[in-house]
Amino acid sequence: MKNNSLRRNLKQSSYLSARSFFKSLFSPVEEITFKVSPEKEPEKVFTVKGYEGDNLMDTLNESEIKGLNVFGICDKQLACLSCRVNVEEGYNNLPKPTEEETDILYDLGRHYKDNITRMSCQLKISKALEGAHIFVPRSAFAVFEILSDSD
Ligand code: FES
Repeated sequence: MKNNSLRRNLKQSSYLSARSFFKSLFSPVEEITFKVSPEKEPEKVFTVKGYEGDNLMDTLNESEIKGLNVFGICDKQLACLSCRVNVEEGYNNLPKPTEEETDILYDLGRHYKDNITRMSCQLKISKALEGAHIFVPRSAFAVFEILSDSD
């Protein structure tokens, strides 16, 4: 079973992070597949694979797909607003945001979409993400757009 998983990973590892790949060698973890698009280019749909238990923000950044990286300035401390994503399909399957995440989601102002926006640093890869479609804002500017709104 593990060897089949290894062979499959070797064949299909184009968007599999190195960390996830090596993790799969040593522990039998579920591979989860979901779709991701840059918010500014919604016609581009990439299939990203991650492993159950990994962090969504890390998985997106490690995929090294241009336009899918998120900042994560505060390193998952819910203090920076820079890791937001919009889960356009599959939001209702996700675990509800914590009170702390909800607070920071409201700080996004006009960039917050009810029942769509989440902080990617707070989401773990799980079966709940299977088949979801996530849109990533243009990260280099997203945080500055939010900060300029509060001026
Ligand atoms: S990395 Fe800062 S809020 Fe997610």
